[in-house]
Amino acid sequence: MMGMRLENLLLNNKKLTRFPLMKKPLIYLFLLLVTPALGARPVLAGSYAEDKKQVEAYADELIRLRVRDSEILAKSGKEIDEKTFGTVYGRLYKRIDELRKNKGLIVTYSAIKYRNPQNSGTPFEIRLMAQFRSDRNFKKFWTVTMMGNRSYSRLLRPVFARKSCLTCHGPKDKRAAFIARRYSTDKSYGFKDGELMGLISIYMPDEED
Ligand code: HEC
Repeated sequence: MMGMRLENLLLNNKKLTRFPLMKKPLIYLFLLLVTPALGARPVLAGSYAEDKKQVEAYADELIRLRVRDSEILAKSGKEIDEKTFGTVYGRLYKRIDELRKNKGLIVTYSAIKYRNPQNSGTPFEIRLMAQFRSDRNFKKFWTVTMMGNRSYSRLLRPVFARKSCLTCHGPKDKRAAFIARRYSTDKSYGFKDGELMGLISIYMPDEED
């Protein structure tokens, strides 16, 4: 939904400029004049290229964090319920919250076979997933998107299943009871080791109010 039309456009035009408004010089000039007055500044202190690198490092960290905690849980032999589930997702959500509060970054997930209906993929995301699935050398995608009237640079990366994920995303009848109970429309099962599960997105605001 968010800026979908724009993103569809951008997917077909990878040589986009960072500022689509460049094409409308008058508007751009107006923004240049007005935004400094609003105290606009980059969110992460570096240059645009450095900020993007930093966001890529955060995506890496979040992907690894879930893998690490899933492995700890799988090895512990603990039964999976609401409480032990928190040992995997508690830390992940806490870190995501920190990145939002401290760095202004917004993290979302999307999937075709999703568990939380909030994570159902948009047509743009579903198309990108097909590309990630068919080309394992294709590892990240940057685009520019609008949310509200704000411009974000958005990183998308694929999330692959590991063995340790399958305790909760493996065979349907092996899911913990609480998952089936809490997510009545769950589709996120039946995955195999190495299969693409979905996407992680990190939105970096291009400027701050
Ligand atoms: C302890 C159980 C458990 C483990 C282990 C687990 N998950 Fe999940 N996963 C869930 C639950 C529950 C949700 C829904 C969370 C929510 O409500 O946002 C979920 C959601 C997701 C989503 C978001 C899309 C969706 O379906 O809603 C992705 C992507 C995902 N998991 C990938 C993984 C990966 C990759 C691993 C292994 C590294 C993993 N999960 C390990 C239980 C688990």
